[in-house]
Amino acid sequence: MSATSRDGFTNKFGVIAAAAGSAVGLGNIWRFPYVAGENGGGAFLLVYLLFIVMIGLPVMLSELLIGRRAQKSVFGAFRTLAPDKPLFMSVGIMGVGAAFMILAFYAVVAGWTMEYTYLAITDSLSGMTPSELSAFFSEFQSSTVGPLVWVGVFMILTAGIVIGGVKNGIEKYTKILMPLLLVIIIILSIKSVSLEGAQAGLAFLFKPDFSKLSGDVILEALGQAFFSLSIGMGVIATYGSYIQKKENLIHTAVSVSFADSLIAVLAGVAIFPAVFAFGIDPSSGPGLVFETLPNVFNSMQGGYIFSVAFFILLVIAALTSSVSLLEVVVAYFVEELGLTRKKATIIAASSISVLGAFCVLSDGAFKFFDWTSSNILLPLGGILIAVFAGWVLGRAKVADELKAHGGKIYLTGILMVILKFIAPLAISAVFLHGLGLL
Ligand code: PFF
Repeated sequence: MSATSRDGFTNKFGVIAAAAGSAVGLGNIWRFPYVAGENGGGAFLLVYLLFIVMIGLPVMLSELLIGRRAQKSVFGAFRTLAPDKPLFMSVGIMGVGAAFMILAFYAVVAGWTMEYTYLAITDSLSGMTPSELSAFFSEFQSSTVGPLVWVGVFMILTAGIVIGGVKNGIEKYTKILMPLLLVIIIILSIKSVSLEGAQAGLAFLFKPDFSKLSGDVILEALGQAFFSLSIGMGVIATYGSYIQKKENLIHTAVSVSFADSLIAVLAGVAIFPAVFAFGIDPSSGPGLVFETLPNVFNSMQGGYIFSVAFFILLVIAALTSSVSLLEVVVAYFVEELGLTRKKATIIAASSISVLGAFCVLSDGAFKFFDWTSSNILLPLGGILIAVFAGWVLGRAKVADELKAHGGKIYLTGILMVILKFIAPLAISAVFLHGLGLL
């Protein structure tokens, strides 16, 4: 979002919709179930939700208020607010790195989703048994041409929307379609819970087994919280710069975090009962959703319509997130390197597609990008953002940003303690412990 194209959003709901559109995506429906499944279920969910409330929400609020105060996207924001503290500008730079890495594997998974949309439309998966569906996914995932083509298609779509600009690009799609996705997930959850053998899946998701917790699992929960909320890299700060002074940032941060967590938990309810009912291994990794849900569609009345609608909406949810990721890179190229918006978008999208191709060809590259961006880069950005809001901006300015809604003093007090001490220390401790250094 360059200075010249700061066309902004038509109203507050437009910004919330765009921020929610960035947050809600494959992270909720594809990544949350697979990571929860690999990390023991219930205990992971509990730690994840704790991190959302204790760290995610305060960091999101910090990003919003930093962006709004500076009226700039993330690079300019730190430069304007603290010109003498270049360390914090690294949030923007790391954010560009993280956006590259995330978008590379994100495009691959979005590509799988597009393939499954095609399969749903052509009714190609109905009648397959659970083990046939699993084998089908593995074969597709390890093939080359199909997944590569889809990466290209998805990146062209993302680039097309980014070239179109903020207002037309993002706002329009999100408002109607995300609530529709929510409705479909609720219907899927109801079906999944009523399957025979569903109980074990509910127990897996909601009965915490604390013996499953380890440093590694806790780090995964932290990374998932950051990834799912789109925080730690300046995306939300950039949206914050478009929010008017009179709007209530706490309300925005709480709404977006709540909607995002709700969709992740509901995706869990749609998936885990079916995982157990159909005898799938909950720790089967990134393919979990693609191996599981077609079984649910096959077993429900109107499964054809639901599967087509679900996969189309999931592609759109992926697009509203990928647009926000590409926007970070494009804003950097435009604002810092002086490229035109169109040129910046084309260069960024093509180089990310090349990285995406690496992720198609190598599971190692896929896992490396996935793990490092969520568990290292975003939380590191989170520490810097919390420290910046807590120590550099300080209480008076934070309170000033929050006061539009008659800001309660004790809330600002709690927020300051979290930003100054709890978030930076907790993230550092989780890091060091998760990496085996503490
Ligand atoms: N939050 C998105 C999702 O859950 O799918 C992914 C994402 C978008 C992460 C934008 C980070 C980001 F900056």
